This record gives sequence, structure tokens and C-alpha cells, in this order.
Amino acid sequence: MTKSVIIRAVGAGLPERRVSNDELSKTLDTSDEWIRSHTGIGWRHLAADGETTSDLAVRAARQALERAGVTPADIDLIVLATTSPDYFGCPPTACIVQHKLGATQAAAFDLVAACSGFIYGLTVAKSMLLAGTARRALVIGAEVLSRVTDWTDRNTCVLFGDGAGAAVVDLSDTPDQGILNTRMGTDGSGWEYIVIRNGGAAHPYTRGSLAQRKLPVIEMNGKKVFVFAVRTLPEVVRGLVAEAGLTLDDLKWIVPHQANARIIQAAADQMKIPESRFYMNLEQRANTSSASIPLALCDLDAAGGLKRGDLIAIVGFGSGLTYGGALIRW
Ligand code: ACO
Repeated sequence: MTKSVIIRAVGAGLPERRVSNDELSKTLDTSDEWIRSHTGIGWRHLAADGETTSDLAVRAARQALERAGVTPADIDLIVLATTSPDYFGCPPTACIVQHKLGATQAAAFDLVAACSGFIYGLTVAKSMLLAGTARRALVIGAEVLSRVTDWTDRNTCVLFGDGAGAAVVDLSDTPDQGILNTRMGTDGSGWEYIVIRNGGAAHPYTRGSLAQRKLPVIEMNGKKVFVFAVRTLPEVVRGLVAEAGLTLDDLKWIVPHQANARIIQAAADQMKIPESRFYMNLEQRANTSSASIPLALCDLDAAGGLKRGDLIAIVGFGSGLTYGGALIRW
């Protein structure tokens, strides 16, 4: 029998603290007017001191598990997408999440694909479930980007927020349900457009480097990323629906990575689709990188915008440069 791979439930994990643009403008040469008009962002959640990526991931995972009606022991795969791990490469943050959840049967690893991380994670989980190497997965996107942000750089720090979103991904006997198809792509020639330059093997910590302010923080060429995003978003969505023998009119929602409202508006114009069919929660959440798509799905679901059987496209793009999407029969 042909199996489908479905998202059984999604969950969110957000820090309590919510910071407005006005609050940022008290310590930074910026304004609510500039940030809203250039990005669409109004607020962002920021982690409390000591609150980590794994903490937010666990909160999101617990909510998703509860909604799916499964226990941590029922999970045998955890894929955690993050750009801001608890520890730099070692150990994988997914292993800390496995321990905190008590998901003792699960193999757990991190996946680094920046803002496309959740899409890449879903693709990996789907492939492993269909191949029989796992039975039920948790795919999580989780970030504490505030710890890899230069809070004196107004070009980047106003854009990002902290949070996590999780999905319980399961096999189903009903055909043509769930994740119908996925796409992943990379343009490595743009690897320098969004980069945490310091602290890795290319630019290791050396004595005094922190004192010289060579901090491991996000550096970005906003204009290059903007152009890349406006090009790839429509390409990915068009490719997904064409491959499935469907049209853009069949989509109830396009749920894009929440980077910038102007990127989404430009993509909507190009695709000749009303902007209202693109779901946006970035006014409230800002850009949470790998967490942004699962958080958007949670918010859309909580607002009653998702019904079983709805056809949606999710699409991500980000550092790498990575991009990808998935067509989902909810
Ligand atoms: N407040 C006030 N002024 C600002 C701010 C700010 N926060 N940031 C920049 N400015 C100023 C600049 O200094 C510049 O001033 P100048 O003309 O005197 O030099 C002016 O505003 C215009 O700056 P631009 O960079 O041209 O602004 P632009 O309209 O291109 O918007 C932005 C910048 C919002 C970053 C845009 O390029 C963008 O959204 N790019 C995409 C970024 C993105 O999506 N990143 C997501 C991926 S992140 C990831 O993968 C982890």
C-alpha cells in the first residue's frame, strides 16, 4: 500500500519577553517607522538570560507531541534545524533536546540549513520514514538568534527574533495526504551574503579576538539576500505545484519564511497572486530563521486558517544560500 507522510501536529515555543521597535530605538539609531516600512516587523520575542535554543525546542516539541497525542517514547527520530545551537557543533543541540524530552528511543541530530532548515528537515524525515529507517519523527526549527546578533548593528539586529516550532511527522495509510512533494536547492556562490564569520575553522578564536570585537555574529548583505529571495520564492512554489500537476489557484495558502514583508509583496506581485494568500506573522515574530515556518504554521492553525485537506505551500530561503519548499495537503 502507498504510504503518505503527514504532519500530525505542530507546536510553538516562544520566549515570554516581547520587544517592540520603540524599545529597540531607545538604545539604537532606528525607529518604529523605519523598521515597519522596510521590513513589516513590529515586535520580536527575545530569550531570557540562560534560556537556550534547546529550551525553546523542547517547549515547541512538547506542545506538538501533546496535540498529536503521542509520547516522547513514540518518537524514533529528532531532526533539529538551527543556526544558533546551544553549543558550537558539539554536542548536537538535538541530543540535549532528546534528553530533556526523555525521547530515549530517538536518534537525534542537528541540521544546518539556516532559514531553509525546517524544509530540509521535513525532506530528510519524509525520506527516512518512507525508506523505513524511522517510524515517527519530530522535526524542529529552533533559534536563539539574539545570541549571534550584533546589537549595535542596526542593519541586522532589528530583523531577528528567538523562538522554536516543531512538527510531529508520521506515516499514514491514506494516499495523497500530507507532504506531497518537496524541493531543496543551494547556491553556494552566495555563501558570504549571510555569514557568522568568527569562531569557526576559517576564523578561529585567537587570543584577544573577542577583545577586538571579532564576535561570532551575523553579518549580512541585505540587498543581495533580497534579490535572491524574490527570485527563488516564486520559482520554488511554481516548481512544486507544476510537479504535482496542480496550479497556483489550487493553493489555499503560501506560507513563506518570514524574513521581510517587502520580499513577500514583491514575490506576490511577480506571481500575480494577491498578497492576502501569503500568510505573514512577521509583524509579531520577526525573522526566526529555521523556526519561522513552523511558527507560522502554528499561528495560522491557531487562527483557524488551516483545515484538514487544505493545500498549502511552504517555502524557505536563507544563508548558504539555501532554498526549498514543500507542498502539503494539510
Ligand atoms: N534603522 C534606521 N535606518 C537603518 C536601519 C535601521 N534599523 N538599517 C539600515 N538603515 C539605514 C541604512 O544605514 C541606510 O542609510 P544610508 O542611506 O544613510 O546609508 C538606509 O537605511 C537604507 O539602507 P538599505 O540597506 O538600503 O535598506 P533596504 O531598504 O535595502 O533594507 C533590509 C534593508 C531590510 C535589510 C533589506 O535589504 C532586506 O530585508 N534584505 C533581506 C534580508 C533578509 O531577508 N535576511 C533574511 C535572511 S537571514 C538568515 O538567513 C539567517
